[in-house]
Amino acid sequence: MKMETKKILVIMGSPRKGSTFRACEELRGILEQEFPVEFEYLWLKDVNLQPCKGCLACFSQGEDRCPNRDDAPLIEQKMHVADGVVFATPVYGMNVSGQMKTFIDRFSYIFHRPRFFDKKALLLTTAGVLGNEDVLKYLDTVARIWGFEIAGTTGILTATPLPQYRIDENRKVIASAAGEFAAALRRPVRRSPGLYDVMIFRGQRAAFAQLEDVSPADFRYWKAKGWLDGRVKYFVDVPVNPLYHAIGMVVEWFSKREVQKDLELGPGEMS
Ligand SMILES: Cc1cc2nc3c(=O)[nH]c(=O)nc-3n(C[C@H](O)[C@H](O)[C@H](O)COP(=O)(O)O)c2cc1C
Repeated sequence: MKMETKKILVIMGSPRKGSTFRACEELRGILEQEFPVEFEYLWLKDVNLQPCKGCLACFSQGEDRCPNRDDAPLIEQKMHVADGVVFATPVYGMNVSGQMKTFIDRFSYIFHRPRFFDKKALLLTTAGVLGNEDVLKYLDTVARIWGFEIAGTTGILTATPLPQYRIDENRKVIASAAGEFAAALRRPVRRSPGLYDVMIFRGQRAAFAQLEDVSPADFRYWKAKGWLDGRVKYFVDVPVNPLYHAIGMVVEWFSKREVQKDLELGPGEMS
């Protein structure tokens, strides 16, 4: 039987063809042994993506109101047509690279209006010595809230001289993440959400259901998706662990009250 080609998009946060690129190439080699792969690099250093101007229009009015006229819609479209997305960045100053941060800032409306529920994400960072763990955790939060199913995380150490045992260790962690990614790409159904995912859904619903006037774009999106219907347990129709469901209900109840209180109080003096 002919295996289906998997489209992989690498969002490349490194400004050069260095360790991060080589780690992605290693990943590509492993995936190519699993199934036919279309592997595309989106080099953030080369795309036309201006820094966020901070106007908040994308959140409240919609991303089409962004004053930046650049490649953002095209980049979002590229993520939509991929089966899997690799978020790859070197660690800079204990965080993602500036290019990767600009990318995340510009697509921040997706935190409010998540959309990539049928996509798998692999997270890859490289660091000289320190920071992989924190940055992978940050990328996990971002991709998870955007809707991706996280399938593989890998932190590579690159400080020279790189002894053989470190090279072997790097290869091992890439292979392990690649295995998880490949398995997820083959799996037709999405995994059930974890507690954190359920809490995000419930917390956001508590807010956006009440924000028709303050943040109409968010309200409209959630309504159109059917997520404001109290019977809906999660963004997508997958089984939800009953305990997570119960905790989620409590979270939603408290969050709703908090938002209600703030809306009743209205803006204070500093705003
Ligand atoms: C501006 C800058 C900041 C960096 N900050 C860190 C850091 O906080 N922690 C660390 O371990 N390595 C740090 N590094 C090292 C890089 O993370 C490491 O060399 C990485 O593998 C580079 O990836 P590349 O070869 O794809 O450029 C930094 C490098 C640069 C250029």
